[in-house]
Amino acid sequence: MDIFRTKSVEQSIRDTEAPEHQLRKRLTATDLTVFGIGVIVGTGIFVLTGQVAKEMAGPAVAVSFIVAGIVCGLAALCYAEFASTIPVAGSAYTFAFATLGEFPAWIIGWDLFLELALAAAVVAVGWSGYFASMLASIGLGLPASIAGEDPVVNVPAIVIVLLLTSILVAGIKVSSRVNLILVITKIAVVLLVIVAGLFFIKTANYTPFIPEAVSTARVEGLKAPLIQFLFGVTPVAFGVIGIFSAAAIVFFAFIGFDIVATASEETIKPQRDVPRGILASLAVCTILYVAVSLVVVGMQNYTRLSTSAPLSDAFVAVGQSWLAAIISVGAIAGLTTVVLVLLLGQTRVLFAMCRDGLLPRPLAKVDRHYGTPARLTVLIGLITMVLAGFVSFGELAELVNIGTLFAFVVVSLGVIILRRTRPDLPRAFRAPLVPWLPIVSVLACLYLMLNLPVLTWLRFLIWMVIGVLLYLAFGYWNSRNAFPWQKKSVS
Ligand code: ALA
Repeated sequence: MDIFRTKSVEQSIRDTEAPEHQLRKRLTATDLTVFGIGVIVGTGIFVLTGQVAKEMAGPAVAVSFIVAGIVCGLAALCYAEFASTIPVAGSAYTFAFATLGEFPAWIIGWDLFLELALAAAVVAVGWSGYFASMLASIGLGLPASIAGEDPVVNVPAIVIVLLLTSILVAGIKVSSRVNLILVITKIAVVLLVIVAGLFFIKTANYTPFIPEAVSTARVEGLKAPLIQFLFGVTPVAFGVIGIFSAAAIVFFAFIGFDIVATASEETIKPQRDVPRGILASLAVCTILYVAVSLVVVGMQNYTRLSTSAPLSDAFVAVGQSWLAAIISVGAIAGLTTVVLVLLLGQTRVLFAMCRDGLLPRPLAKVDRHYGTPARLTVLIGLITMVLAGFVSFGELAELVNIGTLFAFVVVSLGVIILRRTRPDLPRAFRAPLVPWLPIVSVLACLYLMLNLPVLTWLRFLIWMVIGVLLYLAFGYWNSRNAFPWQKKSVS
């Protein structure tokens, strides 16, 4: 049984040329950067900043953003090299197929569900929260059973996923236009927070910049970071350790730059533009995050920050309610684009997996009229709607983080392997200092993973076991890689 059979890079590229599985090539570097920023700036900065500053890092949350940004930067260089070498839909999944083999590729594809569909559902729930509170502020409060903290059915979350799924079915160019408008609104609001906030900063709020470490019951038992559990360290918040635990959480704020690579097949000049799109969006976001977090902890003492809407509430706290209202609208726009691009990324990864036969091939049929994988888009939309509507998430953002970090580890290893196995391939972008940079990237990602709770690790392992069973029951037998005589038949 050869579960490590690889699919050659040439084969991956050839597969994209079959007419019934061909996506239209329309995107440019600017489109990709907009897509990148569209998916990156979201719940992480609009929601997590306050929570993490208040509970884990204090004003040093800005340092946590830098730490997480550096870890992502290392992985981004690896993604950029891969995307410029194998410009095929599927991102980490496709990269793993070319280097590590079919089974690891399946594992990664399965893992990406945590990063994409699950994250889309988590962010849709966040969207619903902002939406409900905005309606409430104009006197149109929704009943607690359909929106708010713990609804029976989260109706606004379902509706937003439904709307965005329709946009995606209608075609990617439509999506990038809608996305552009929303991204501009979101960035304008983030800049507004930075510029307007500067006038309300009190330097006293920056002392102490790194609050003293304190032990806390909040991170005990299964909720303790694995690293503390393994080494029997007393769980603490704040201090230097707190900065790193916080980095593992605010990592969520950077998720998305890798999704740019999932759109490489639809890019006009992928070799040049995909690395540019990835690195540019990551750089812009890191600068914005550090600036926003410094401003917010300067406006309000970290102990008083709000954990649900820290950016707008900081303005309420300084008596600027109208600015707070504008910021809420921006947050709603911002979260919309995040859900949109996460859904797009998920469709493209599953598209590549179906095309390879690891999941039913007919699902990957491109709709003649729209030029998009419509069936698959609808299916993902339905699953995300159910998740967003009925499941209460809470800590599941951490599950998204662990899934994403795992994918980063595999991609970083893949860069080293592909340099050895296929040194001949044209690489329009080469990551510097290989193999050292990818090795550091792997270690940095593993370190952040160790900072995630034990419970998250357990959930992650269960999800992965389900994936292995599914591969053995279906993927292995239906893979086009295994049975070449099936390669001609389509759907
Ligand atoms: N980076 C995205 C967010 O913060 C997932 O919402």
